[in-house]
Amino acid sequence: MHRTVMPKRFTSMRLANVADLPDPGARGFDPCEEGRDTLFVVRRGEVLRAYRDACPHFGGTPMAWRKDAYLNGDGTRIVCHAHGAQFDIASGECLLGPCLGQRLTPVEIEVTSGGEIVLISA
Ligand code: FES
Repeated sequence: MHRTVMPKRFTSMRLANVADLPDPGARGFDPCEEGRDTLFVVRRGEVLRAYRDACPHFGGTPMAWRKDAYLNGDGTRIVCHAHGAQFDIASGECLLGPCLGQRLTPVEIEVTSGGEIVLISA
């Protein structure tokens, strides 16, 4: 059983600039310095979303098989590499796999006019 460590709440914290993320692509972050990424930001065109790095299938299992590997091969879906669940990037809904219909937990972010991605709450 994996334990999901809930990050502290932030009033705001800069994570990265949009230009730092590949398109399509994703990047994990460890805002509470827990020694592993606890959330990730996905970029696909104009869509930018952030979710906890915790699969709903099995006790909040971390999802990437290596650093920042949160997407499928063509960058169209988020993938949990533990058992292959696939999630819609925009909604976080599981579209294929053992947690069909469940959702990733969203993380609130804002993007400034300068492209800075700011964590609002986690
Ligand atoms: S833990 Fe993610 S698909 Fe099973």
